[in-house]
Amino acid sequence: MSHEKLVDIARHVIGHGKSGTMERANAVMELPASTYYDEDLFEREIDKIFHRLPILLGAGCEVKKSGDFKTMEVAGSNLLITRSKDGQARVFMNACTHRGAAIEREACGNKSRFTCPYHGWTYNNEGDLIGLTAPQDFGDFDRNTHGLVELPTLESAGLIWSILDPKSTLDIKAFLSGYDDMLAQFGFADWSYVSMRTFKGPNWKIAYDGYLEYYHIPVLHGATFGTDSTNRGLYYMWGPHQHIKSTALDKGHAATETLGYMADLADVPESKWDTETLTFGVWTVFPCTSIACFGGGGRGVMISQILPGSHVGESITNQIYIMQDPPENKQLAAEAEDQFDFLQEVVMNEDYATGYTIQKSLPRSGLNHILLGRNELGNQRFHSWTRRVVEAETDEDLMALFGEFERGVGIPDMAAE
Ligand code: FES
Ligand SMILES: [Fe+2]
Repeated sequence: MSHEKLVDIARHVIGHGKSGTMERANAVMELPASTYYDEDLFEREIDKIFHRLPILLGAGCEVKKSGDFKTMEVAGSNLLITRSKDGQARVFMNACTHRGAAIEREACGNKSRFTCPYHGWTYNNEGDLIGLTAPQDFGDFDRNTHGLVELPTLESAGLIWSILDPKSTLDIKAFLSGYDDMLAQFGFADWSYVSMRTFKGPNWKIAYDGYLEYYHIPVLHGATFGTDSTNRGLYYMWGPHQHIKSTALDKGHAATETLGYMADLADVPESKWDTETLTFGVWTVFPCTSIACFGGGGRGVMISQILPGSHVGESITNQIYIMQDPPENKQLAAEAEDQFDFLQEVVMNEDYATGYTIQKSLPRSGLNHILLGRNELGNQRFHSWTRRVVEAETDEDLMALFGEFERGVGIPDMAAE
């Protein structure tokens, strides 16, 4: 079913490529400039988006083996992700139930029990409190009710989503709107974790805007990977999640996989269309993740999480690189590493350096709003969704939003030109 959808999309891309057309939004969108620097709005986003919606925390292969763990911070919450003997990935608050110290400070590793560095309480990787220092001093104490605080979590398509509110009853599957079935076409569950980079950027939405359109690629990235690239993208949506493909069919572009060129399929019978090429492109996961395909050193993806930082003008980006097969020799490993370095440099020196100029100038620019063109459909949809989610009062209101799109939409609903 999801493979058929990929084929539908490729047909649609190739159709537009051959006729030199694209989909456009119905109108140019005017977005209040304060969207990017309003401190109250930033706080509401932390509460209503990041502490309420499922957030893609990473790939299951980052904690592939029993005992593997990873720690991370998301919008002020310290998290511990584990994989236990039963094969299940679990996500906990990285906070000791005694007095709240982080029980694990390493970024990743392998251990089946965690001992708090403060007073030595010990937990297993299923979150149970299994050891207490000087238990006699706690008297009649029920360990069973003092395990780590666990978060609602779903591992699907080889990716891990959690809700940072332990009491949430939101249906993660409904939020995904069928998108995880599409992502399952990659087979990430069998891939391998290779590398990760973390760096700062401007406001999370300024930074994320750059992952949602191809309009800037031949200009801002003209001297690096965007040379001769298209500035046109097609946007396919499942609920708030969008897959972006390039409309161009001419060959020889520098970023074939990353931008989702279907050129290699255009003159090939559909029976020969391979899943790897069909998945080329950018897969964004609302609210703040982009999964981009690349080929240096072997088939891989860069999972970019653009998380809010400690204030409205700061974001933290995690670039997580996973590959279908770990590079099998030194040369391939070096090719992959070169590509990771290159991608980090491009994002920092071109995208975020430009984003910082927006951050700096916008509040006193005299601009009341910024513009999102009819070709910047991905950004228009993203900003509409963030507004709707922030304004949704209750979980029922939220689920109604996702319910509208439950069956997913393969082809954009905007007028074609
Ligand atoms: S805070 Fe962890 S043992 Fe005291
Ligand atoms: Fe960019």
